[in-house]
Amino acid sequence: MAIPAQSDGTATLTKDAAPGETLLKVTGLQKHFPIRKGLLQRQVGAVRAVDGIDFEVRSGETLGVVGESGCGKSTMGRLITRLLEPTAGKVEFEGKDITHLSVAGMRPMRRDVQMIFQDPYSSLNPRHTIGTIISAPFKLQGVSPEGGVKKEVQRLLSVVGLNPEHYNRYPHEFSGGQRQRIGIARALALNPKMVVADEPVSALDVSIQAQVVNLLDDLQQELGLTYVIIAHDLSVVRHVSDRIAVMYLGKIVELADRESLYKAPMHPYTKALMSAVPIPDPRRKSAKSERILLKGDVPSPISPPSGCRFHTRCWKATQICTTTEPPLLELKPGQQVACHHPENFEDQAPQDTVLLTAAKEAAELVADEVLAESAATSAAVAAEVAAATETPVAKESPAVSKEAPAKDAAPEAASEADEASEGDAPVKE
Ligand SMILES: Nc1ncnc2c1ncn2[C@@H]1O[C@H](COP(=O)(O)OP(=O)(O)OP(=O)(O)O)[C@@H](O)[C@H]1O
Ligand code: SF4
Ligand SMILES: [Mg+2]
Repeated sequence: MAIPAQSDGTATLTKDAAPGETLLKVTGLQKHFPIRKGLLQRQVGAVRAVDGIDFEVRSGETLGVVGESGCGKSTMGRLITRLLEPTAGKVEFEGKDITHLSVAGMRPMRRDVQMIFQDPYSSLNPRHTIGTIISAPFKLQGVSPEGGVKKEVQRLLSVVGLNPEHYNRYPHEFSGGQRQRIGIARALALNPKMVVADEPVSALDVSIQAQVVNLLDDLQQELGLTYVIIAHDLSVVRHVSDRIAVMYLGKIVELADRESLYKAPMHPYTKALMSAVPIPDPRRKSAKSERILLKGDVPSPISPPSGCRFHTRCWKATQICTTTEPPLLELKPGQQVACHHPENFEDQAPQDTVLLTAAKEAAELVADEVLAESAATSAAVAAEVAAATETPVAKESPAVSKEAPAKDAAPEAASEADEASEGDAPVKE
């Protein structure tokens, strides 16, 4: 892609990140929206939309971000593109602290970071031609592309698979999928380094979704783009993401490379999200339904639950989950998780065995085989770890052991553990 000439001479002086190097780094990022009441508009509380998250985006990768409605995905996207001012924490782009840059200070960086919005109907001004819409970033940045604006817009239209002759048409003359392509062309106009796409296909027909996702994927190959793609379920991001962050109530609860996440999710919430996506797997043909239905609504981000925020809906929750927030730790290489009793891994709080009432109720909605599998895989992993470190006692998974004796679980647990440990024989209790 031709790099637009920069007529205003404000080019950033930072060195480009090589593929795989950290492009964006976020530390302790928070956004609390104040709630004000009364004549004096006194602050009476806050919506803790993003409540302390740490992650990095590597050059050339696609980071998928998933989670239920209201968990803070869009707020996170707007914070890292600096469309919103963070309440606390730090955002660094190419090593430069951009957390509190002013509008003027942000201007050079605006070219490098672009956003694609969820709704292709409301994100394009109906009174402007698509030529005007796609060329707006040039005007805003004072950039004059080589060969002129019109030629560059037509080139961008063909890059996203639209007819360059449609330069003078209006948004209403296009279908939803075509409009999203216009949004993508606009985002690409300034040859950005990173594109944050907030649910880029959720407003589109299912038949069109794949086309737009494939277009984003092709453009990444061609232009060496880095993506953060936000989605509310895993079906959209699972094919295109290199790594996936799972958010729950303003927090990242698991962050892992795609393979690890799919082979052996470690956070119970990830497991529940994954069970909602049908995965055609011939090895599991004989397995009974593994769908996990989470009970109840997501709690309010105004007063999130104490300890682990997922404890009110988690079938593995014990006392410690209500009091101590589990830190996001890299328990396996490339897999960070925040949980006291992770799936497919050694229990992090094995002394805490008594299930909470909420967990017992949630357990009724979890298929027996999932509970059993969870108990057996945790036990198997604990045994493996014990064997490796020559510790005499292999711990069983206390959180679910009362509800689901491991013996019922043996066949399915074996297949799961096989996948998780790539062929190591699982040790059964
Ligand atoms: N400008 C705002 N003022 C007050 N609260 C806000 C504002 N923007 C978002 N919120 C609240 O912050 C929380 C997170 O919202 P956000 O839009 O980031 O979630 P989301 O994960 O993108 O959800 P969805 O999947 O529905 O798009 C929600 O409770 C929302 O109501
Ligand atoms: S087991 Fe505890 S820490 Fe882990 S997700 Fe469930 S409630 Fe949270
Ligand atoms: Mg959103």
